[in-house]
Amino acid sequence: MNETAHLRVNGQRLWDSIMSIAEFGPGQHGGSCRLALTDEDRDGRDLFVRWCEEIGCRITIDDMGNIFARRAGRNNQLAPIVAGSHLDTQPHGGKFDGVYGVLAALEAVRTLHDNNVTTDAPVEIVVWTNEEGSRFAPAMIASGVYAGVFEKDYAWSITDSDGNSMVDELRRIGYLGDVPCGRNPIGALLEAHIEQGPILEANNRQIGIVTGGQGQRWYDARLKGQDSHAGSTPMPGRRDALVVAAEMISMIQALALDFAPHAVSTVGEISVIPNSRNTIPGEVFFTIDIRNPDAKVLAQMAAQIETRVAAIAGQHGVVCQLDEIWDKAPVEFDPDCIAAIAAATHLLGYSNQQLVSGAGHDACQVCLVAPTSMIFVPCAGGLSHNEQESAEPGDLEAGCNVLLHAMLALAKNRQGAA
Ligand code: GLV
Ligand code: MN
Ligand code: MN
Repeated sequence: MNETAHLRVNGQRLWDSIMSIAEFGPGQHGGSCRLALTDEDRDGRDLFVRWCEEIGCRITIDDMGNIFARRAGRNNQLAPIVAGSHLDTQPHGGKFDGVYGVLAALEAVRTLHDNNVTTDAPVEIVVWTNEEGSRFAPAMIASGVYAGVFEKDYAWSITDSDGNSMVDELRRIGYLGDVPCGRNPIGALLEAHIEQGPILEANNRQIGIVTGGQGQRWYDARLKGQDSHAGSTPMPGRRDALVVAAEMISMIQALALDFAPHAVSTVGEISVIPNSRNTIPGEVFFTIDIRNPDAKVLAQMAAQIETRVAAIAGQHGVVCQLDEIWDKAPVEFDPDCIAAIAAATHLLGYSNQQLVSGAGHDACQVCLVAPTSMIFVPCAGGLSHNEQESAEPGDLEAGCNVLLHAMLALAKNRQGAA
């Protein structure tokens, strides 16, 4: 007999907590702007830490600013069952991306606290630093350091567009912890998240049981042409870096269509120098994000981008430096974690389906070193990285109930030492 089968989270408290965090860094159109390691990020973290301490959790902060809030179990030699996500957002972010996963984990642990349930293995809530990769690129840096994908010194040295380094910003906001990143053991990691895509909503399913994540590569492209007068320079012979960038951007979009249906490609950031109406632009910087669930296809896309960018630059007498700044292979999640999520979903009677994540997540890094899976819930129109991002309270509550019961099952069955 499973004596915790009756437990259910408090959906209203979960919703209220999400809305409270959204007060830090409100966007202009109803969403959130809480870039990593800003004052707003610090304020959200501080409130999260306070909430965890109120229910007796012990806080550890590592030297990448990742926060671990531990609720002791019966056998604290066991590696903890960990759940969480991130509190940073995109510049025009929604209220749910990342925040939901952190606060669903908190709500699950609050439910254990309210009901005086002691798990065998300890449970922890985690907040990963800089998942978004918007202020500091690439994305999922701190979970990447945790998983040994990035060196800590490299991560510390990454700067934002104003030249502020991650380590200085961690120190400035008071979240440069003293535990070496990667030291906190993880027996298993579960991350709840809105789907950020249209599949669950289209199929009328409440829960996505996530089996893996697609691969992605990020590039920085720097074009060098020649500044020149907009009025007196004849059209032939111009070395207009922006016109060349425009041709490249069209090519990058068409390339994803060539690799349909699963390929996607995006140019999301561009800067033009000198950015003056009547000077032909001599320099352009832009970013490239390409993704595919199949590593071989992703490699083909990358090879095509590199060849075609060089060809376009050559045709126009513009120099192009293309730097691959991130190569993230597709991942498959752990069968036991997937089974625990599926069992919890069945116990609770929610409609569900398996899917592969289109978005990147901290879980896609941590799965390289610990058993991991994710729980998705629908979001309206599949819209995310948009201030209008929205999710139904009932779906958020359902995903949180699944998280609670998957955590309980994993915390019971754990055998490995911390
Ligand atoms: C993270 O938000 C991503 O870019 O997938
Ligand atoms: Mn996210
Ligand atoms: Mn995101």
